[in-house]
Amino acid sequence: MEVPLFKADLSPEDKKAVLEVLDRGYLSNGPKLIDFEKKISDYTGAPYAIGTNSGTSALHLAVKALGLKEGDEVITSSFSFIASSNCLLMEGVKPVFVDIDEKTYNLNHNLIEKKINSKTKAILPIDLLGHPVDMDEILKISKKYCLPVLEDSCEALGSKYKGEIVGKKSTVATFGFFPNKQITTGEGGMIITSDNNIAKLCKSLRAHGRNDLDDWLYHDKLGYNYKLDEMSAALGASQMNRIEEILENRKSVANKYMKKIANLEEIILPYEEDYSDRSWFAFVITLKKNKRSEVMDYLKKSKIGCRDYFAPIHLQSFYKEKFGYKEGDLPITEEISKKTLALPFWGSMNDNEIDYVVKKLKEGLKNGSF
Ligand SMILES: Cc1ncc(COP(=O)(O)O)c(C=O)c1O
Repeated sequence: MEVPLFKADLSPEDKKAVLEVLDRGYLSNGPKLIDFEKKISDYTGAPYAIGTNSGTSALHLAVKALGLKEGDEVITSSFSFIASSNCLLMEGVKPVFVDIDEKTYNLNHNLIEKKINSKTKAILPIDLLGHPVDMDEILKISKKYCLPVLEDSCEALGSKYKGEIVGKKSTVATFGFFPNKQITTGEGGMIITSDNNIAKLCKSLRAHGRNDLDDWLYHDKLGYNYKLDEMSAALGASQMNRIEEILENRKSVANKYMKKIANLEEIILPYEEDYSDRSWFAFVITLKKNKRSEVMDYLKKSKIGCRDYFAPIHLQSFYKEKFGYKEGDLPITEEISKKTLALPFWGSMNDNEIDYVVKKLKEGLKNGSF
């Protein structure tokens, strides 16, 4: 049997929605994007939703719209996918990392205040692996120091914090729709905000910096081509029609994994705070003492996809060169990042596939023991 790391859950209706766009021949700047944006806005409760061609471009536009620039600093976490910090480097902004909480793996909000100085211009928390950050605590700091919050929710569409869908409470938040995400558009992303000016600026910046009147050939600022095409938007809108079902399916697969590996002494299961109702992005376990590379080699030999989510951003070569970050700067991030292991995960994974992964994981843990 072969089990990939992830698969997109595509229904016949999803495929039909894309084909309809192709049949009509209206492939960009059309009604599907407006429909998709409205669905995300209704679902998250944020008044404005702006579709983009990736989660990374959504983050980049959010950074621009907040006016962040060369010389500014933003407090964030190093334990994430690299795009959540790269978006800052794109504008010459320095990411200042705080260590993570050892249970949720999200940035530890207790460490933020110590890093705030006159250059600090925003906080960029990440709802890592779909687990929401403790937003009330972050908002307290944001209010005290008048710092906007850019929430990277690229892995957390549908996650709830204290009963509310994440994203809306932040100054601006972003979602990503790569095929391993809760819903997919192939490549794609979305910005949400309650701030009319941010929304207007993001809309202009994603379309070459077009002026307020949306005149096709008149540009009042440097912009980009970060637009989401109609095929992708139609797929996203179709997936949003069954978002609850998609999230339920993913939760059910996660719960099956949990039950089947709960008694394995060698691992720590994904943790969830009381305030969280997580929307599952990936299923990531933590190995207590086993050698991860050996376990991964065994899984890969058994044709099972797996990945070492995440390598610390501050230890990526160009971050070390540019900012002088080094081993030992973020002890918890560095320790956890050596032990985490993402197992195959998607919403329509069947019991045979789950059982095969669990069986091979158990064998791999035996082989990989010290
Ligand atoms: C936390 C996080 N931020 C940003 C991104 C970037 O999204 P994309 O791959 O759509 O550019 C991703 C996705 O892969 C992510 O996991």
